[in-house]
Amino acid sequence: MFFKDAPLVKSGAFYMMQWNFQDLQTQAQSEAQAIDSPQALESFRLKYLGKKGLIAAVFASLPGAQPADKAAIGKGANELRTLAQRLMAEKSSGPLSNSASGERQDISLPGTGESLGHTHILTRTMREIIAVFEQMGFVTVETPEIETEFHNFTGLNIPVDHPSRDAFDTFYLDAEDPSAKGRRLLLRSHTSPGQVRIMKAHKPPMAVIVPGRVYRPDAVDASHSFMFHQVEGLLVDESAQFSQLKGLLTEFCRRFFGQGVVMRFRPHFFPFTEPSAEVDINAEILGIQRKKWLEILGCGMVNPKVFEAVGYPKGKYKGFAFGMGVERMAMLKYGINDIRLFYENDVRFLKQF
Ligand code: PHE
Repeated sequence: MFFKDAPLVKSGAFYMMQWNFQDLQTQAQSEAQAIDSPQALESFRLKYLGKKGLIAAVFASLPGAQPADKAAIGKGANELRTLAQRLMAEKSSGPLSNSASGERQDISLPGTGESLGHTHILTRTMREIIAVFEQMGFVTVETPEIETEFHNFTGLNIPVDHPSRDAFDTFYLDAEDPSAKGRRLLLRSHTSPGQVRIMKAHKPPMAVIVPGRVYRPDAVDASHSFMFHQVEGLLVDESAQFSQLKGLLTEFCRRFFGQGVVMRFRPHFFPFTEPSAEVDINAEILGIQRKKWLEILGCGMVNPKVFEAVGYPKGKYKGFAFGMGVERMAMLKYGINDIRLFYENDVRFLKQF
C-alpha cells in the first residue's frame, strides 16, 4: 500500500517498510522549529495530527502492511504522535508572533496603554453653568425636545402668524400634536417652552433652570448650527425685580468666567419678557479677538401675558427669565472660534479640554 500524500516515504531496497520514522521525526523537529505564528502552528498540527494527517495515514496503512512490520509501524506512529504533540505544546507555550523568523520580541518594551476618555467640553460647560446656578439655589429640570406650538410659541405670547415667530425659525415634525387638531409637533427652537411647562405644573415660588438641546434651521457656519444648547432660567415669586435679575446674571458671569469679566446689558425685545435685554461679554478682555462683544443670553421680566397663559391669577406674581447659549459660553471661556468643532468630534480637538 502506498500513500501518495505522504511525502516522506522513501521507497527502495534500503527500507524494509514504507515509513522511515527516523526521517519523519527529524522532519517534524525542524518544521516545529520554524513555526513563527499561530497559523503556522495550526498547519503543523493539521499536517501531523489532523484527521487527514501523516500519523493518521500511518495508522491507516497498518492493515495492508507486512505482518512483520506491523508492530514497528504502530510503535513508530505512536512515537511520532507523542513527539508532534510535545513539539506543539512547546511552541504554543512560548511567544508566537507574525514577525519573520529570527526576529525576537522585546518583552521589556513598555506596553501600549489605552487612554481613558473624558467628558465632552460641551457637557462640561453645561455642568459648570448648572453648578453655579445650583449653588445659588436653582433647581434643574429637563423638559421635552419635541414640543407643541402652544409651549414653544403661543404660551410665550408668540401668536401664530406673528412676525416674531421668524426669530425662532422652527423644524416642524411630520406628526400631529395630539392636543391640538391640525397643528404639528416641532423641535423646540429654544428652552423657553420649559418655562410654560413648569409654570403650568407648579405654583410659585420657584427658581429653576432648564438645560438642553434646541433646533433651528440655520445654515451652518462658524457661529451657527442647526442644533445647539441652551440653559433657561426662571424665577417666579411675588416680588422679583429687574435689579435682582441683573445682580444674579452679573454674579453668575463672575463665577463662570472669573472676576475680571466685563459684560453689558443691552435693551432688546422678546414677546415673553417685558422689559427685555440681551447680555454681551467683552471677548477682547477674555483674550478672544474675533469680535469685541459676543452675545450670550436673552433675559427679562416675565410678561404678564405668559402668567395668564399658564393660568396664574392676574397680577399676583412677578418673575424673571433668561436663556443662554451654552456653545457661546464654552467658546468664550475656552477660546474656541468655530462652533462646528464641538460636533465634529475630532479627538485632536477634544483632547485639548
Ligand atoms: N428664548 C430666548 C432665545 O432663544 C432667550 C430668552 C429666554 C429671552 C428667556 C428672554 C427670556 O433667544
